Amino acid sequence: MSGGRLGENCNVGQNVLISSGAKIGNNVKIQNNVSVYTGVELEDDVFCGPSMVFTNVINPRSHVLRKKEYRRTLVKKGASIGANATIVCGVTLGSYCFVGAGAVVTRDVPDYALVVGVPAKQIGWMCYCGIGLPSKGTSVRCPDCGRHYVIEQGSCREVLAPVAPPAPTFVTEAVA
Ligand SMILES: CC(C)(COP(=O)(O)OP(=O)(O)OC[C@H]1O[C@@H](n2cnc3c(N)ncnc32)[C@H](O)[C@@H]1OP(=O)(O)O)[C@@H](O)C(=O)NCCC(=O)NCCS
Ligand SMILES: [Zn+2]
Repeated sequence: MSGGRLGENCNVGQNVLISSGAKIGNNVKIQNNVSVYTGVELEDDVFCGPSMVFTNVINPRSHVLRKKEYRRTLVKKGASIGANATIVCGVTLGSYCFVGAGAVVTRDVPDYALVVGVPAKQIGWMCYCGIGLPSKGTSVRCPDCGRHYVIEQGSCREVLAPVAPPAPTFVTEAVA
């Protein structure tokens, strides 16, 4: 670690580099052999699998200084990146998305999307808990944890159970 910001309760494996200017939230797991370069931001609860690769220069040349051309990579809350995946700089990985092992991500990934392959393509949606969501229907439930999602027009959002209103409080006013 050389000047980057690391949140609380993180789990960092062997041979991990956190460059100055990298930002890492709370409860992040970084497995062995990962370099988190300047320009990379990992929000809370992100998982980086072993030997996955971030990048920060899109067109590197050893003989051309490109320090001012770093492109940002944002990995939003709860996203998981599989072993050996590569994230080409300048993309945003959505909340709770899942990047399969060995994928090469070249475009933004929507929240909850499951992407695999080279270049990475979406093959489904993943629940908050890491289980695949049913591929049919717009209103679906996780077969494992029962969380409810609406999937339409290329996006997936969780439908939260309504919060019960606070119980009424009765105030007895003193009569003078
Ligand atoms: C992406 C992942 C979660 C999918 O798991 P799953 O839901 O059980 O998916 P399945 O094994 O049923 O595969 C579904 C399809 O996607 C393909 N697929 C799965 N993972 C893939 C990957 N990483 N790259 C390319 N294709 C993949 C399968 O071959 C299968 O294709 P088919 O339908 O043509 O046969 C899993 O394969 C993966 O990559 N996990 C990451 C593991 C990891 O890196 N852990 C790090 C900590 S140890
Ligand atoms: Zn679930």
